Amino acid sequence: MDKVRVGFIGCGGIAQYHFGHYEKMGDKAQIVACCDLLEDRRKKTAERFGAVPYADYREMLDREKLDALHICVHPGAHDGMEFIAIEKGIPLFVQKPMTLDMKYARKVMNAIKKKGLISAVGLQCRYVDTLPFVKNWVEHHEIATISCYRFGGVPMVWWWRQMKESGGQAVEQTIHNFDILRYLFGEVEQVQAARRRGIVKDIENYDVDDASSTLITFKSGVIGTFTTGCFGAFPGDFNFFAANGHKMEYGLGGTYKATSANMNIEGKPSNDFGQECDETFIDAVRGEISADEILSPYSDACKTLAFTLAINESMDQGGVPVKPAM
Ligand SMILES: NC(=O)c1ccc[n+]([C@@H]2O[C@H](COP(=O)([O-])OP(=O)(O)OC[C@H]3O[C@@H](n4cnc5c(N)ncnc54)[C@H](O)[C@@H]3O)[C@@H](O)[C@H]2O)c1
Repeated sequence: MDKVRVGFIGCGGIAQYHFGHYEKMGDKAQIVACCDLLEDRRKKTAERFGAVPYADYREMLDREKLDALHICVHPGAHDGMEFIAIEKGIPLFVQKPMTLDMKYARKVMNAIKKKGLISAVGLQCRYVDTLPFVKNWVEHHEIATISCYRFGGVPMVWWWRQMKESGGQAVEQTIHNFDILRYLFGEVEQVQAARRRGIVKDIENYDVDDASSTLITFKSGVIGTFTTGCFGAFPGDFNFFAANGHKMEYGLGGTYKATSANMNIEGKPSNDFGQECDETFIDAVRGEISADEILSPYSDACKTLAFTLAINESMDQGGVPVKPAM
């Protein structure tokens, strides 16, 4: 196959991450068109790749013959762009969180399914090469409870600090962690969550949660807590506690440590999982591998999105149990 002709909507922070991956893909793919509301971003991208810059994605999708499209706008900015691409039969790679509106996500999911399109979502932590070991460990131990946390600072993009644009910490950043929990423990029965505000005081137009704690009940019976926040940055961790004194500590980036009374196994990741995530999508578009090898297609990512939006809903309702609504 000739090079996959790739387009981008959104040429900001995360697009740079993808751009680096495309530069390492050789003859597999070429970025031929890019769109951003900001002139300097679309111009810079166009110069970097010899692509055609657009200010309006409708015009880009109308004029360009694309084989694949990355959508890298913030969660509150998805205003129908997916549907134009789907109508044209263009495989989609959408950044997480794909929207803050579950109805919209479901509509996109059904349209992708109806067209039989290849899709992917930027939940690249699924591609970490130590994760299969950890998944296998989880499957061979009787996990009773889990205890996890993640604290990042406030990202310096304008939209992040507004709930209606980003969804806040649990949805925008910690979605990666919640996705890994779903990957390891299966579907979620219900969540009960509480929020803390008032710690972050000096940021204008800020209305996201400073911290939240969620009690998660998985359908398998596993229970546990996840605490997350943006008031400071501390290294995060998953801790899985199993019968007979076995414990697994796992970091989102792939380090792990399995311990028991007489055992201690540690490991580190060795792959560039972001590269693998993008390249798996492109290999599937090229027909070189099955689309089933994409670890986070849009339909699966919808379940993780529903999990995180249920956390916000529980917080909004004072901590009542909420079942993720798919
Ligand atoms: N997978 C990951 O690890 C990861 C990491 C960072 C960000 N993200 C996700 O990527 C998305 C974007 O984040 P970012 O940090 O790149 O944000 P950003 O603000 O740096 O970039 C977004 C860009 O989209 C452009 N844009 C917005 N609406 C547009 C429209 N209608 N048409 C054309 N361009 C438009 C903006 O002008 C901006 O340049 C978010 O959903 C975020 O959660 C994912």
